[in-house]
Amino acid sequence: MTSTTAFWLAGRQVTGEDTFDVTSPWDGRLVGRVSVPTDAQVEEAVAAAYAVRDELAATPAHVRAAALDHVSKRLAERAEEIAQLISAENGKPLKWARGEVGRAVSVFRFAAEEARRFNGGEAQRLDTDAGGQGRLALTRRFPKGVVLGIAPFNFPLNLCAHKVAPAIAAGAPIVLKPAPATPLSGLILGDLLAETEGLPAGSWSILPVANDKMPALVQDERLPVISFTGSEKVGYAIMDSVPRKHCTLELGGNGAAVVLADWASDADLDWAANRIATFSNYQGGQSCISVQRVIADASVYDRLLPRIVTAVEAQVTGDPSDAATDVGPLVSEDAAKRVESWVQEAVEAGATLLTGGKREGASYAPTVLTDVPADVTISCEEVFGPVLTVQKVDGEAEAFAAVNDSKYGLQAGVFTHDVQVAFRAHRALEVGGVVVGDVPSYRADQMPYGGAKQSGVGREGVKFAMDDYTYERVLVLTGLAL
Ligand code: SIN
Repeated sequence: MTSTTAFWLAGRQVTGEDTFDVTSPWDGRLVGRVSVPTDAQVEEAVAAAYAVRDELAATPAHVRAAALDHVSKRLAERAEEIAQLISAENGKPLKWARGEVGRAVSVFRFAAEEARRFNGGEAQRLDTDAGGQGRLALTRRFPKGVVLGIAPFNFPLNLCAHKVAPAIAAGAPIVLKPAPATPLSGLILGDLLAETEGLPAGSWSILPVANDKMPALVQDERLPVISFTGSEKVGYAIMDSVPRKHCTLELGGNGAAVVLADWASDADLDWAANRIATFSNYQGGQSCISVQRVIADASVYDRLLPRIVTAVEAQVTGDPSDAATDVGPLVSEDAAKRVESWVQEAVEAGATLLTGGKREGASYAPTVLTDVPADVTISCEEVFGPVLTVQKVDGEAEAFAAVNDSKYGLQAGVFTHDVQVAFRAHRALEVGGVVVGDVPSYRADQMPYGGAKQSGVGREGVKFAMDDYTYERVLVLTGLAL
């Protein structure tokens, strides 16, 4: 019999009245049964977080840092078990799930380090004008209040970590909602946080609240900061419904990998093709920075394209629990059917299908398209599936214009050896991050991460999320002998 996984209410493990089942996208087997908080329990968690906001903000840095270090250490100790859980509930191949746990270990470690050095304060002399004689300003950052974190299914552990760890590091309580399809990995963080000492009860809750209960939480004035990762549609609906709250939105992207004329040796093109094939298909393409568009200079296009197709066909598809698998299922059959319909639409409009294009249940074969018309859905929207479009351009300016010809702007990759081109790309590309010599999918968890245009607002990356969760407050001291 499957036991029920309790949720975390103000640091305590609690069950509600209802449960829901978590099933594997690969074979439909029952992975777990999760208890759902009642409205009264949600209220209790919010009230507890609100009540301890001053106490947590005043909790010494060494206490918060020790708690974060503990979670990092325990994630590392339980890494294999947690990777298997991620793989089971999300369908993510074990090799990628292992990588995700390793990243979460780092996120909590970075947060511990940042907790120790954050908010040291900055002194500014004010006697630069006569009116400020004898005055000194001290600037420190303080939490804006309780954070409501809303996490997606595609990195069910690490994107929860990116909400929880910076909140505790900054001294802000957090109420976290994991994704309904993948709540178990997020709830594991509760097991580890519950082992820590010194954080006031109420500092953190992890509530698998149903999506239809979220509007009330989003509106709750005791939760002034919302950190959301997910779809553009839901993200902007949240922000539009609470224009006076502080919202961080990590939304979609249709990551472009640009291959320029100087990236032309056989070794260059092999590397680019392998990286593109790997990172258009990792997590079944369900990453906001997976490669969706390849924009290749005409001088390298004919040598690059067959290499990409070969590398895509070499991706091992199948059972995500097999350590050799590169590409598993999408999160659901509906998700795979949507991808299938977008590819069909493109092909009917004149696109050429070079490989893939087949669906079996929730799995969609790694797919490469060329000659894709600009107005079909797959050219305009985030596919969030293992599909790549390849486009030929003439020169750097046309390549950069093609990258920017999108409503999204999360990250872009530029394959070039020329540092001058790298700087021009950094200036020209309307994205949150430019990766030179690699695909757009590179993310180090301490880097600022977030979008331009419709890809969102605000930044994650531990220190940057801490900035987002806090505001500067100045203290002016008077009558000093400066
Ligand atoms: C995302 O899909 O936005 C997260 C990507 C990552 O953390 O690597």
